Order: sequence, then structure tokens, then C-alpha cells
Amino acid sequence: MNIKVQNRTISTEAALNVLRKSYRGILGISMGMARRRLSRNDRRKNGVALRPVVANVEITRRCNLHCSMCWLWGKNGVGAQGPGELSPEEWVKVIDNVSDFVSMVYFTGGEPLTKYELLIKLIRRIKMKRRLCSITTNGTLIDRVVAKDLVNSGLDILTISIDGDEEGHDSIRGRGAFQKTISGIRQMVAAKREIGSSMPFIKTSTTINDICASSLESLAYQLRNLDVDMCQLQYPWFLPSRLVLSHKKKMKQIFGIECQGISGYAADDMDRISPDKIQSVINVFYKIMNGRFSVFPDIRELADIKKYFTDLHFNFRKDCRTPWTNITVKADGRVNLCPDYYIPEYVIGYAQETRVEDLWNNKKARAFRMELRKYGSFPGCARCCGLFS
Ligand SMILES: C[S@@+](CC[C@H](N)C(=O)[O-])C[C@H]1O[C@@H](n2cnc3c(N)ncnc32)[C@H](O)[C@@H]1O
Ligand code: SF4
Ligand code: SF4
Repeated sequence: MNIKVQNRTISTEAALNVLRKSYRGILGISMGMARRRLSRNDRRKNGVALRPVVANVEITRRCNLHCSMCWLWGKNGVGAQGPGELSPEEWVKVIDNVSDFVSMVYFTGGEPLTKYELLIKLIRRIKMKRRLCSITTNGTLIDRVVAKDLVNSGLDILTISIDGDEEGHDSIRGRGAFQKTISGIRQMVAAKREIGSSMPFIKTSTTINDICASSLESLAYQLRNLDVDMCQLQYPWFLPSRLVLSHKKKMKQIFGIECQGISGYAADDMDRISPDKIQSVINVFYKIMNGRFSVFPDIRELADIKKYFTDLHFNFRKDCRTPWTNITVKADGRVNLCPDYYIPEYVIGYAQETRVEDLWNNKKARAFRMELRKYGSFPGCARCCGLFS
């Protein structure tokens, strides 16, 4: 099979060699696939989509931390409201099915490594099918054994969240979290060296917020010494209360659902963040990480940084296409077309009951895409990553 990557057509084997060597390769391949599918999808007016590229899998909603900005366990988090979770046996069946259908499985949570043994088993099965696999973790549960198992599992990307220097990080994630996360990063780097593997690609992800902003320059210097492959600064996903309310109203009006999940993003104090401070942090990261640095979404100009926090119409695109390329499976097996908790109540089916390929273009999925095509986006989409790329 041939794959289109950044305007070049290469064989699957060549593509796999590229991504073994580089993260940008991995992103290039999945973005290339997504773009190609989107351009073909664009011709389809009936809500039918080609096979999805990425499956976002919330392997558990549970977490060992309670970070202040988190839509699940933060100030306004909705994590405690959720239903039960799939059993390990159900997950094996679901992931076998999902990985037949997509190119990349992305595990998130809650904290995925609270289910470490199951996770290692699932990654191995995904890699046997030669699919890409990625995890985002808070890193606090990675000891020497976990690190070696992760390296040996064949995992492609490990993203470790770290939100500031010790003081900043702990004020968001709880006392003692910083040292555990740093130890987790060190264990991963050491395990890769010991095993002689260049994978998984290790990336740190730092969510910007007003508590940690002043500690980010100091974090940049600490990360430089840790030998990670890349650092990413991520803008916060948040919504003023008035947008949360209008999103709920719209979801009721269009789909007849009570959208509770969106409440997890409510924040009315984001204009406290200093855009000048953020720009100076970006400049410091850029300088000291020597190219191994990204910002998501890629906003670096001062005027745009200001707009991100104050002008909720400011975005990269007006129409969201994510439900044409991504599928999301939640901890209880429910399948959504939007990631995270923007519209978790719009359920196209349950992965433990029906194969995802039979859900992907069912009546509910097509109806959702057709409404989205009509509106372009919904009120709560303003700060969802679906509109960022
Ligand atoms: C929900 S967490 C799940 C994985 C894992 N527990 C962790 O913290 O990395 C996934 C990612 O979302 C980030 N995150 C949490 N709340 C956020 C918010 N309001 N805006 C943007 N990113 C957020 C976290 O920092 C983390 O990198
Ligand atoms: S560790 Fe991750 S899932 Fe847990 S509270 Fe923090 S951001 Fe949320
Ligand atoms: S931007 Fe809106 S429609 Fe797109 S994925 Fe996010 S919540 Fe869904």
C-alpha cells in the first residue's frame, strides 16, 4: 500500500521506517492520511466518512491526581459523574476491533498508567497489527519496571504532562507530583538507553495557565537537561460560563441531549493570564530547546496570544472536520465523534456491543456530521482542539 506524506507518495514500509526515526514523520503520516481522507470526504454530502485515522481511547476515567484545570478532576471537573468502565476482557476485544479499523490508537484518560498491565497488553496487540500507538500520562507511576515494559511494548509516542517547575507544577497537580513526574521521565530515558531503542518518542506537554505561567522559564531550563525528544507548550482549553450555557442550549435544540460534559471546561478567569509572559516563555523554550519545541495550537505572535484568551471567535478554522477522521471510545465503551468532554452525551453506540466499523457511518453518526456541516461548529467548539488544525 502507498501513503501520501507531505505531497510525496511512499510505500507503507518506507513510511514505517520514517516514523521509526522521527516524531515529525509520525505526525506527517497521520496528518497526510487525515488530509487525503478529508479531501475525499468533502465530496460526501450525506454524512458518510471514509475510515477514521485516529482512535482516541479513554482507557480509564480514574486518576491518581486532581489537577486544577482538568475537565475531569479539576475545579469544575465532571469525572465523578461518569458510569462504570469496561473489564480487561472487554478492552482486549474492543482494542482488537478498533486497531483493525484505524491507523493510530491514542490512549488517554484519566491516568492510563493506573491500568498499566492491561495497557502493555493492549499496546502489544496494536503493534502486532502494525498500527501506531501513543499514550499521554502524568508520568507519576513510571518506575524502572514500567519504563522497560513501555519501551519493550513497541509504543511509538509517550507524552508526559509537566506544568511548571516544582512549585508551579505541584500547585496545579498536588504536592510531590513534580518529583515523581521528573523521576518518570528519567526512567523512560534510561530504559531506552539500556534497551538500545530510539522509541518511544518522548515528548513533554505543558498546559499553560495563570498559576504556572511564571514558573515556565525555569521549567524550560530543567527540561533541557532531561534529554527528552521534544517539548510542547499547549494552550488551555476553556470556555467562559456564558459559552458553556449556549453550548448546552444548542445541544438540546439540535440533538435533544443534556450536555453535562462541557461544564468541565468552564473558566471565567483566563484573561488573568499575561500574554507578554506567555510570549517570553515561548521565546525561552524556542531558544533553549534548539528546534525540539512546538506550541499547540501554533500561536506565537503577541496579538494572537491576546486574542486566544479574550476573543472566542479567534480560531484557525470555522468548520470542524474532526468527526470525519477521529473516533473516540470512552471508559464505559461508549463511542463519540468528538474527543474529550465537549459532547460526550452524543453516543453513536457501544464498542463492546457493536463493531466500530458498523457504528462509524450509522444513522446517528451521519446525522451528527450533517448537522455539523450545516453549522460549521457549535458554541463549545471555540476552544476545542478540533478547530486548531
Ligand atoms: C486529561 S489528561 C489525561 C492524561 C494524563 N492524566 C495526563 O495528565 O497527562 C490529557 C492532557 O490534557 C491536558 N489538560 C488537562 N486539562 C486541560 C485543559 N483544560 N486544557 C488543555 N489541556 C488540558 C493534561 O495536561 C494532559 O496533557
Ligand atoms: S493527571 Fe491528567 S487526568 Fe488526572 S487530573 Fe491531571 S490532567 Fe486530569
Ligand atoms: S470542535 Fe466541536 S465538533 Fe469539532 S471535535 Fe471539537 S467539539 Fe466536536
